[in-house]
Amino acid sequence: SRNFRIAPSILSADFARLGEEVRAIETAGADLVHFDVMDNHYVPNLTVGPMVCEAVRRCVSVPIDVHLMVRPVDRLAADFAKAGANLITFHPEASEHIDRTLSLIRESGCKAGLVFNPATPLHHLDHVMDRLDMILLMSVNPGFGGQSFIASTLPKIAAVRARIDAHVAAGGQPIWLEVDGGIKIDNIGAVARAGADTFVAGSAVFGAPDPDGGYRGVISRFRE
Ligand code: DX5
Ligand code: ZN
Repeated sequence: SRNFRIAPSILSADFARLGEEVRAIETAGADLVHFDVMDNHYVPNLTVGPMVCEAVRRCVSVPIDVHLMVRPVDRLAADFAKAGANLITFHPEASEHIDRTLSLIRESGCKAGLVFNPATPLHHLDHVMDRLDMILLMSVNPGFGGQSFIASTLPKIAAVRARIDAHVAAGGQPIWLEVDGGIKIDNIGAVARAGADTFVAGSAVFGAPDPDGGYRGVISRFRE
């Protein structure tokens, strides 16, 4: 039986009250804080950097899952490791040397992963399966919260699940399979059945009514 993890994305949080917001999702049972980093270059939006990660780190003890939507990747990856990230993922097409970037992240003490956009092919997995702690599949095009789930990603999730299972059956290390974008109460079941074990949710969690009861309500319904 698989272990499921819920990773609320702070992209949809109230940034004027970010400390309270991350504490509220931790109290509500979040397994990770998903931290979206956008650079107005790799994606057409701009969010926050290592300083804000450091501030979040001081507020909660739940692991911080940093999703880098930036180009270039390496220097920011190192800065986020110093700022208290636990897991760092990046888009392979945004890195000049994927193997080097993965090593750099792991040497800095973080878990490392690759992210695939809905139309990005999976061949970047070919030579690095043994270097990965997580694979993140985007189920929207990256850049904004609140978009609709792209259903054609379901067979892609199943394909990656099969690759991970074959890797583990051949003696490889475990690899988490995270899905990000448009996850709601009415589709999380299908995403789980396709093979995901880690679920990002921005607008579904932070759009919930009243902070504590609301966040806890969504997170517990996600687990059903
Ligand atoms: C999109 C981000 C997502 C986003 C998810 O580029 O990577 O993490 O915040 O938000 P929802 O759950 O609203 O699609
Ligand atoms: Zn994300």
